[in-house]
Amino acid sequence: MTSSKPQRNRLWLVSNRLPVTMEETDEGIQVQLSSGGLATGLVGLHKESGGGWIGWPGLITADGSLDEKVRAALSKRDLVGVGLSPEEHRQYYQNLSNQCIWPLFHYFNERMHFSEEDWECYVKINQRFATTVLAQVDTGDTVFVQDFHLMLLPQMLRDVRPDLRIGFFLHIPFPSSELFRIFPKRQELLRGVLGADLIAFHTLGYVRHFRSAACHALGLETRTSEVHIDGRKVHLLAQPLAIDADAWGEGNTEEEAAIVESMEYLLRMAAGRKIILGVERMDYTKGIPERLRAFREFLKQDPSRVERVMMIQVAVPSRAEVRDYVALKDEVDRLAGSINAEFGRPGLQPLHYMYQFVTPLRLRALYRTADVALVTPLRDGLNLVAKEFIASRHHNDGVLVLGESTGASWELGEALRVNSFDQADIVRQLERALLMPLAEQQARMQPMRARIAANSVEKWARTCLSAIRDSHSTDVRPLKLLDSQFAQLQESCTQIKRGPCQIFLDYDGTLREFTGQPLEATPTPEILDLLQRLVAHPHISPWVVSGRPAALLAQWLGHTGVGLVAEHGAFLRETGDSAFHPLFDFLPQDWRDEVREIFNHFTASVPGARIEEKEVGISWHYRLADPILGTWQAKELFQHLIEVLQDQAVQVMRGNKVLEVRPAGINKGNALRHILRACPSAPQQILAVGDDHTDESMFQAVDASAWSILVGNRPSAAHYRVDSPAALRALLRRLVASSSAAQFSDS
Ligand code: UDP
Ligand code: G6P
Repeated sequence: MTSSKPQRNRLWLVSNRLPVTMEETDEGIQVQLSSGGLATGLVGLHKESGGGWIGWPGLITADGSLDEKVRAALSKRDLVGVGLSPEEHRQYYQNLSNQCIWPLFHYFNERMHFSEEDWECYVKINQRFATTVLAQVDTGDTVFVQDFHLMLLPQMLRDVRPDLRIGFFLHIPFPSSELFRIFPKRQELLRGVLGADLIAFHTLGYVRHFRSAACHALGLETRTSEVHIDGRKVHLLAQPLAIDADAWGEGNTEEEAAIVESMEYLLRMAAGRKIILGVERMDYTKGIPERLRAFREFLKQDPSRVERVMMIQVAVPSRAEVRDYVALKDEVDRLAGSINAEFGRPGLQPLHYMYQFVTPLRLRALYRTADVALVTPLRDGLNLVAKEFIASRHHNDGVLVLGESTGASWELGEALRVNSFDQADIVRQLERALLMPLAEQQARMQPMRARIAANSVEKWARTCLSAIRDSHSTDVRPLKLLDSQFAQLQESCTQIKRGPCQIFLDYDGTLREFTGQPLEATPTPEILDLLQRLVAHPHISPWVVSGRPAALLAQWLGHTGVGLVAEHGAFLRETGDSAFHPLFDFLPQDWRDEVREIFNHFTASVPGARIEEKEVGISWHYRLADPILGTWQAKELFQHLIEVLQDQAVQVMRGNKVLEVRPAGINKGNALRHILRACPSAPQQILAVGDDHTDESMFQAVDASAWSILVGNRPSAAHYRVDSPAALRALLRRLVASSSAAQFSDS
């Protein structure tokens, strides 16, 4: 499809299920509309995308591929198919998606079944979607990934094409972080979805839960509508999916009149009785048995009600191969039969139960025929049926009884709200709905109709798309250091004809991995050996440039002979020296008591936080504190310090889970400048390596010809990056090992 549509800035929708579902029959491929809020809600956006919709067309093939005939049929509709084999359908779709994430996210954790094999298949199919998307997209395109089947896809796309604008919308609830933490691959799932520029949900409640999960499970910093990861800001948005209110609210069309006519048998069956309507996929989250039992109770309280009321329950076949859904269908069949057997009278059937898909046009006729819509899911991400019912009531009459655990209940406050788990409550609200005077019906219906009309599906799409585009960061990231560049680095650093080489290495997070307690981060024998080898090299002058106190650096690293810079550039000890000397003549300390007092105050209320007294600075560490409390209090503390210290010659610095106050002017960059000025020989080669924001001043202090490497992956002034301290150590080991030979040939 790429070649036939050369224009840029296209939109690609990606979801597990396409808006049409295909079936191979003896007569050829049958195509029908897919059910579910996602497929129905995004149709308009797809028409205007300029790109296409990528997803599974419902076909299961022996090897998981789709043949040319199917691809061509999809392509005509601007659809791109992803196939599944029987095993993949079972593991990725039925098991991991529908029997693991779906129940957990809907608070049915006792129905969750997790297995490693299913998870591996989930990863594999997300990768297959990534490959398919990457084959379609072009520069400037936006990819809008939908729902829980594809939560790993955003990061997979970002890994290959960080230039793409990537959005993700979750159509189901995001559960409380207490529940989410049960998921065995919680970190992987979060990291996957956080590859997006923007993550959108139906409600603010889900945004809150997600933020708290990101903070607890990954220890990430969050703001009201942001999560910070790898130096990037991922934006969060609450934007409930909407409907095409005009289409649902149109006056009676000719087509619809014909449909109403064809539904006459239903009206005949109702025989003047009021109609209660339930419409949903056959899903245990929708509370169908609970609702039918409430209806049975309603009839039991007064069996003559069958003369005045009839209920229609549409249940669309859904996920019919999954065990829990099979059991649900049996239960609903039995309940429906027993209600009709117990309360039916000649010519008066209390319940009309339709286990079938109903087309939108027929559905609209049903919505208009009903007096009361009984929408009582036990838990639902949003629920479009409630909105469609309201939009269809073009005479402003009718009553919506709505479960309070649906996302839609946030927007539809005028509905009669029920606790769907409370049978007595459903019965009470049903009675009230059936007896509600027309004036009250209208007073409730009108504002809801106006709200639904104002928040159209076009507006939803516009808001999401512009939020994705606004969130997309164009920050420059360092390039991963490749083998070909390593050869140049090696030549720069180890050959005397290029001049001596100064290597500046940060310690924590760069040479050494972080530990829970700062004092546990002692250098390993491997690190000490590496530093000794660097020191022994005839052309290399290695430095460890750290925020740690001088005494500690001397104790840990002194015997290697490496040059040391302590407290972010306050003190320096040259190779071979045994003592540090200050880089500044006068460092005021009159602010210290006040800062210590403030630190003590915050430490008392944040368990796990601790104060570190250094010679010129003082730090407040919160790595071991509860991530939410720690981050929140660190923000407060930072703000407070800025205000209190505004007239003092000090700086307040934010590091990795630490705040530090120290005299102004001290930074690693200044220390580097000092060292480089003091070194008379030229030309010199320079390599600066760090991970933290405090290391940025080093990257900025060296000129463009120097080598600078970031450990990690975030926007930075460094030119290159490696993934981890272990990767850096391996690189330095190679550098020293390979240079032994070079050393002889050069000198
Ligand atoms: N729907 C349909 N035919 C049916 C039943 C439902 O087309 O027989 C559509 C309905 O119009 C709605 C969607 O399926 O747009 C259901 O979305 P909802 O958000 O209510 O629930 P979901 O199925 O997504 O959980
Ligand atoms: C919900 C989900 C959708 C899904 C739909 C139908 O609306 O959020 O992602 O497509 O149910 O379920 P199915 O398993 O048939 O795709």
